[in-house]
Amino acid sequence: MKTLFERSVTGRHCTILPACDVPECTPEITRKSEMRLPELSETDISRHYTELAKQTFGVNDGFYPLGSCTMKYNPKINETAAALPGFKNIHPTQDHVQGCLELLHTAEEYLCEITGMDAMTFQPAAGAHGEMTGLLLIKRYHELKGNTQRNKIIVPDSAHGTNPASSAMCGFTVINIPSAPDGCVDLDKLREACGEDTAGLMLTNPNTLGIFDKNISEITKIVHEAGGLCYYDGANLNAVMGIVRPGDMGFDCIHLNLHKSFSTPHGGGGPGSGPVGCKAFLEPYLPGERIVEKDGEYALDPRGAESIGAVRGFHGNFLVVVKAFTYLLTLGREGVPEVAKNAVLNANYLKHLLETTYDVTNKGICMHEFVITMEEMKKINGVSAMDIAKALQDYGIHPPTMYFPLNVHEALMVEPTETETKETLDEVAKIFLELHAKALEDPEYLHSAPHHSAITRPDEVTAARKPVLRFPFND
Ligand SMILES: Cc1ncc(COP(=O)(O)O)c(C=O)c1O
Repeated sequence: MKTLFERSVTGRHCTILPACDVPECTPEITRKSEMRLPELSETDISRHYTELAKQTFGVNDGFYPLGSCTMKYNPKINETAAALPGFKNIHPTQDHVQGCLELLHTAEEYLCEITGMDAMTFQPAAGAHGEMTGLLLIKRYHELKGNTQRNKIIVPDSAHGTNPASSAMCGFTVINIPSAPDGCVDLDKLREACGEDTAGLMLTNPNTLGIFDKNISEITKIVHEAGGLCYYDGANLNAVMGIVRPGDMGFDCIHLNLHKSFSTPHGGGGPGSGPVGCKAFLEPYLPGERIVEKDGEYALDPRGAESIGAVRGFHGNFLVVVKAFTYLLTLGREGVPEVAKNAVLNANYLKHLLETTYDVTNKGICMHEFVITMEEMKKINGVSAMDIAKALQDYGIHPPTMYFPLNVHEALMVEPTETETKETLDEVAKIFLELHAKALEDPEYLHSAPHHSAITRPDEVTAARKPVLRFPFND
């Protein structure tokens, strides 16, 4: 597809600007050369962006089972609420506007109730940013107690990849512990890893294999007895929200991904929202100003010297919180657990339809996602996870997450989410089964897939290592 610059024709234009009614600027500050802009008609531009839009794939286009990402449908009412002028047009320094403060305060209250925490900050702009913030709370807690030798964070190998990365970024040493054969934390290995230098444990639950750790209370007990704190990666809350609360399982802090569980759109690197909740004893260390309510009036309460300091401006991505709050109001108290139940039901239904044909790693009931391994198939006839993922695109299905989790070879991680119907899941299962049969009889067809998409198999390594980010003007 051509870029706008390649479509440009000298002299073509579409601007209908009114005559200039202000003095033209002085020569010292005018451009010395013409601005290099593409010259196009409105039709050219309109068709260009329509063509581009057709080449993208979103939750509104079709099934999007991107494991670990909870690509659920984002209700339109969320957008309508976030577009209300009173929310959309507010400036962050108008920090006394009661409606906005009330929304943030109530959203905090609801999310604390869902997670079993006592306080929450909306500053972090993404899940990993929330992890960093939560870990800094843990760090501050140990520092203020004089326990500076507590510099290790235990991370099971079934954790999301951002967990060890965030720990290292906060200056902790990461202690990786292997999972037991059932995919849960190996309690003996955890006991061995805990000691005087343990700052805490970071647990992704349900983990990256889609398993809820059956020993969860024992895990937090072991870590607490060793003097460490427990961090819950709550990005997979979609499987458990409204059913069980991390705060009741013994966790001291948590981050949520509003852009996953709470139906706000995923942006390319943002704007997301990764609020961090904590128990009361960590509250003084939270970043940003706290919103306090007194006799129905809301006000900002500045942080004391114990705070870790701001991790982002104001209250983070405010409009994302508006969308998540709208979602919570739409669901109500009964709707939140319904979401989790249906997310788990949909994953188990699809897993059931596929597991006699595909090699699924979770043998029992899974939570909101499950993992297929193509390892055996690849050994037999070379058909890989990548080949299946590419072939799915020909059927209007977004590929599942590939080659993750790292502890499964040739992994395809499937997360259907609760917003898909039984008809869609049946249709998707039929396509997966068809592709499996094709892989056995005509592997070449899969190696060369996709056959009908605009882009087939780009050189992803070169694209990542040597990205071309600028149009190469030849003059
Ligand atoms: C379990 C888990 N933790 C953390 C993250 C990181 O979130 P983000 O991509 O918003 O930084 C993700 C992302 O999907 C996740 O699935």
